Amino acid sequence: MHDLLEQFSAVLGKQYVLTEDQDKAPYLTDWRKRYSGKALAVLLPKTTNEVAKLVKICAANHVVIVPQGGHTGFCGGATPDNSGKQVILNLKRMNQIREIDTANQTISLEAGCILQAIQEKAAAQDFLFPLSLGAEGSCMIGGNLATNAGGTNVLRYGNTRDLCLGLEVVTAQGEIWNGMKGLRKDNTGYDLRDLFIGSEGTLGIITAAVMKLYPLPISQWTTLVATENIASTIALLTLFQKRATSLLTGFEMMTQESLALNEKHFPQLANPLKGNPPFTILIELSDHESEEHVRKLLGTILEEAFTTNLISDAVIANNLSQANTFWHMREHITLAQAEEGANLKHDITIPLSSLENFILETDALIRQKFPGVRIINFGHLGDGNLHYNIAAPIGIDPKEFNHLHEKPIQELVYAQVERCQGSISAEHGVGQLKLADLRAHKGEVAHQLMKSLKRALDPQNTLNPHKVVSI
Ligand code: FAD
Ligand code: MLT
Ligand code: ZN
Repeated sequence: MHDLLEQFSAVLGKQYVLTEDQDKAPYLTDWRKRYSGKALAVLLPKTTNEVAKLVKICAANHVVIVPQGGHTGFCGGATPDNSGKQVILNLKRMNQIREIDTANQTISLEAGCILQAIQEKAAAQDFLFPLSLGAEGSCMIGGNLATNAGGTNVLRYGNTRDLCLGLEVVTAQGEIWNGMKGLRKDNTGYDLRDLFIGSEGTLGIITAAVMKLYPLPISQWTTLVATENIASTIALLTLFQKRATSLLTGFEMMTQESLALNEKHFPQLANPLKGNPPFTILIELSDHESEEHVRKLLGTILEEAFTTNLISDAVIANNLSQANTFWHMREHITLAQAEEGANLKHDITIPLSSLENFILETDALIRQKFPGVRIINFGHLGDGNLHYNIAAPIGIDPKEFNHLHEKPIQELVYAQVERCQGSISAEHGVGQLKLADLRAHKGEVAHQLMKSLKRALDPQNTLNPHKVVSI
């Protein structure tokens, strides 16, 4: 083991091979504090060549590697097991922007770049990098690609996968695959890029990427509106999709119970809408024409929504700071849940045509079988993506509640998801959290194909084993 650490140090320098408990500690527990592990060492490479050398050493010694970015993932994918034999390979030192190609509208960058830093770098050159999520101050583009992260702009710009044109990957054998082309068309056989995106560190280590950029909008308008039920919420989405088409860049839903939790922990983010409505919807329009054009359009659509009784109240943000407060209100629900204690997350997608039925039936079943629970249902409604999270009844210890009821609640929710032809992971991935559920959800043929891919690319099973699929 000593010899192994020496080999790592020969590649990185001793200071980038962390072995002391206090140095390793920040890398061992996931954001939700649900998973905790041990590691032989935390390795901090600076270059792709260093990553390749480290992987070769690990492959030769049958040492398991757990790739890690910002460690904000919700499924335990970046947390090692308890053996103390695995190494964490954290990409944070690989944080260079290699190039912004203005004519091609692309950015080439290393995997350890923090998402928010990429947005800022793009904006400084009048470009939009549209990926946006609550963890953007600490998650990294390598982690976003490895989880195929979603977030709040998906309805207009797609998931991380849709924003990626090229990748550089270190394989399980320590080879470097250079797929860093910024092409919007490339039909040369199997799509290796798409294979690595969403593979959660189980097939290769993403070291760099070419991502799409878009023109920065001239004007953005953000509004909060109140709806009385899920049927009118979906009708409202349809109305905005029809009238605003590609100008619609955000459509987020928050239920009364979600915002009550927010208000408890972050009273400064109280809902400005009157009377605590059953549903609060955050809508964002972005325009490249003019401020006046989008403001007028928003007014016209809201008027139509009022006259057709789809909404009962609306507040339009009249400056950037108020718009930011609306977004903070939405993004703080996750933080409020963390403050409240352990909770049960169900990151699901339902076809919009079945969404009303799903919510009405599932809410009723949950409330009947688990009286008093709080259904913290919120999310990216424009994509049919609900964060259908469950919190223990007020006054009941969340850990005890979850210990007793996590499994039956999850079975109930997932059965409803299957009935509606939905997905049990919309954007957070599988990791170790949903490993056991994947087989039933995907079906035997898909599951076997996934295992075949894993065996083909990582025959020694040293890249993040027992995450996504076990072989
Ligand atoms: P990590 O957590 O470090 O890793 C995630 C997985 O990717 C692990 O399996 C890891 O092994 C693998 N991995 C990491 N880097 C690499 C690499 N370079 N090569 C290969 N594999 C790698 N997610 C959403 O999709 N939408 C949201 O709206 C959203 N909101 C969030 C809000 C908050 C407050 C928080 C805390 C999280 C949120 N997330 C959301 C979840 C999380 O931020 C995303 O999954 C994010 O993409 C993870 O990035 P990371 O750098 O933290 O990855
Ligand atoms: C978000 O969209 O805020 C997160 O993905 C949801 C969650 O915390 O479950
Ligand atoms: Zn989300």
